[in-house]
Amino acid sequence: MQPIEPRDLHATVLLQESTASLLPAPGGTYIDATLGLGGHAESLLEASKPDGRLLGIDRDPEALARAKTRLERFGPRFTAVEGSFSELERIAEQTRHRPANGVIADLGISSMQLDRGERGFSFQSDGPLDMRMGPSVGAPLSELLAEIDEFELARVLRDYGEVSEPKRMARAILAAREEGKLVTTFDLKRVVERSAARRDRNRAHHPATKVFQALRIATNREMEELEALLEQMSAVLLVGGRAAVITFHSLEDRLVKHAFRDEAGPSLPRGLPVEPAIRRTPLAAVNRKPILPSEAELARNPRSRSAKLRVATRVLVEAHA
Ligand SMILES: C[S@@+](CC[C@H](N)C(=O)[O-])C[C@H]1O[C@@H](n2cnc3c(N)ncnc32)[C@H](O)[C@@H]1O
Repeated sequence: MQPIEPRDLHATVLLQESTASLLPAPGGTYIDATLGLGGHAESLLEASKPDGRLLGIDRDPEALARAKTRLERFGPRFTAVEGSFSELERIAEQTRHRPANGVIADLGISSMQLDRGERGFSFQSDGPLDMRMGPSVGAPLSELLAEIDEFELARVLRDYGEVSEPKRMARAILAAREEGKLVTTFDLKRVVERSAARRDRNRAHHPATKVFQALRIATNREMEELEALLEQMSAVLLVGGRAAVITFHSLEDRLVKHAFRDEAGPSLPRGLPVEPAIRRTPLAAVNRKPILPSEAELARNPRSRSAKLRVATRVLVEAHA
């Protein structure tokens, strides 16, 4: 039997666009904060031949193992670390990948994680209510659902899934929990099918898509992780270095857009006390509008449909305060 190729487990999104945006060059140092199956990492290592180095971080030990095999041929140019990207600064420092010329993050989960029924990410196959990206995440979805109240669940469904009538959906999910009928992903899918608002039933995608997305984001604390990553990106980059982030839903994109400011900000006379908000921001957007997948990519990989790439450059922060 042929071993499964990493590229068959996950089609890398916006590959050329994101690789080019980091301006890879020989001798450069790069960080892939979401290594996954190693698609972006491979491209960056190829583009920075013969001696560019890359650090890959992922929470998922299985993804890490597969990426290591894929990238073995790069020898010591490639370093893999199991960890959360909210620890970017520490990991980059410890592995001597700071300062870096480029950092990339391709958020969310890989198709491999989604397609593994036993991980509980998908309503297409029956599995446990788990959804953890890796052991470091802590509690699985089943524990979150055992403790959450209706108000907070409705907030999660609304904010992370844009679910219509989120209170009604939260009530239905918690009623199934009370009756002991919420054990597997198919149980959850059944509740969603029964309780989805008409507006969500008539969409192109199954109403469980957004509910599962919202619960995955909450289980893995993805918004908190992203905020921590965005805070640390400029600290690991050289001045002039590039940051590239690929997001898959509007809330993530909003955070990235906010962190990659349009303007480098006003330059103020030295010695004045300056509010942090009007200090020069260290990450300035390179492109005002996000870069989207081409028609050809959308046709090849429908899972790329909600992807948005934003790119920023590290600018000098002037010490005013
Ligand atoms: C979309 S996949 C990346 C795919 C990769 N770019 C490729 O081409 O193969 C996202 C990966 O990020 C990892 N991930 C998500 N959030 C993370 C976090 N906070 N810390 C570390 N890894 C994370 C997931 O486990 C997953 O493997």
